Amino acid sequence: MSERIPFTISRRSFLQMAGGTAAALSMPAILGACRGGGASGPIKIGVLLPYSDIYAVLGESITQAMEMYFAAIGNELAGRPIELIKEDTEINPDVAQQKARKLVEQDEVAFITGIVSSGVLGGLRDYFNDNKVLCICSNAGANALSRAAKTPYVWRTSFTNWMAPFAMGTWAANNIGKKAIISVPDYAAGEDNVTGFTNSFEAAGGEIVGVQRTPFPNMGDAAPFMAELADAGADLVYAFYSGGAAVTFVTAYNDFGLAGQLPLTCAGFMVEEDVLPAQGNAALGTKSTLHWSYVLDNAQNNQFKTDFKAFAGRDADVFALQGYDTAHVIDEMLRRTEGDTAVDKMVEALDGISFDSPRGPFKLDANSQAPEQSMYARDVQSVEGALRNTILSDLGLTVDPGDNSKG
Ligand code: PHB
Repeated sequence: MSERIPFTISRRSFLQMAGGTAAALSMPAILGACRGGGASGPIKIGVLLPYSDIYAVLGESITQAMEMYFAAIGNELAGRPIELIKEDTEINPDVAQQKARKLVEQDEVAFITGIVSSGVLGGLRDYFNDNKVLCICSNAGANALSRAAKTPYVWRTSFTNWMAPFAMGTWAANNIGKKAIISVPDYAAGEDNVTGFTNSFEAAGGEIVGVQRTPFPNMGDAAPFMAELADAGADLVYAFYSGGAAVTFVTAYNDFGLAGQLPLTCAGFMVEEDVLPAQGNAALGTKSTLHWSYVLDNAQNNQFKTDFKAFAGRDADVFALQGYDTAHVIDEMLRRTEGDTAVDKMVEALDGISFDSPRGPFKLDANSQAPEQSMYARDVQSVEGALRNTILSDLGLTVDPGDNSKG
């Protein structure tokens, strides 16, 4: 039986999913227009990322790639030195709110970047909006921020959580089978994945035979969840897990004998370069959709991978790509404002920023306040001794439909 989620979620229910404490935040005395020192002195940038818990490596990749980009431009933006002030959000909306207030009200940063979890972003949305604090989000894909809960002060350089699942729903129905069971962690990003996949899968003639919601951030004992997937009578599984949870899920899928038996599809984060070494051959053959792959062969990606390996001592992953492009967007934004960090000037400057990214053509879309970018269908294969996401097809340029969305 198909389980349907409403196409849009209200701002209230979104905030509840995020932890529900946003209402407790008060207005800081600082005026948005003069935060961060105006047009002279160092530019302080507040970095809110998880450096602990299941998304710690995501935070590390984003940070290292941003630092790499800034180092390459002499750690200066529009002639002003850059100062990154980093804070660990864990995966905890309450902790993230305290850290955001500290960055804005004590450190007086010019703007915030980072944020990996949709729950954390949802919890901070009103703080950014009410206090005119610009957030250039480098991961969290919460659809609501491009729809009902949209605010001029939150832009994304990453993706929305509609993109990968919606692309996979169509691809899976056309290429694998017509009966799917979905497995997601029980928080906002999981719900976005359920909705996106369900809508395009059903539109392509598929049927959802079950939706499994697992405890977030830690799944706990995976056995009952694997048994449910095995017994669902599905042709395929669609899953969304990332970081430590992706290792848990893919390893358990293999241990229960499902790998290679019941086709596994996912949003590509689940089999990214940060987790593939730990998953090993258990990940082989997993099909995914994402806005980047290590193997993309273009001049920007080849340079990025080489530079990141030299800088960080490990292979790049999609989160590093997002950190790198975030720094590029910040660079371009402050060129356009000539180093002025008045919030309304920065917001105006973001509209339409475009460049050739390692992911392919990148353009900030004014409607969704997120990138227009290509999606790729991918397959985990062994390439020259390493597991990589080979590209099955380029699914073309994609932009979040915003409030017009059917998923
Ligand atoms: C999210 O919470 O929106 C999220 C987290 C991790 C990912 C992708 C999306 O890899």
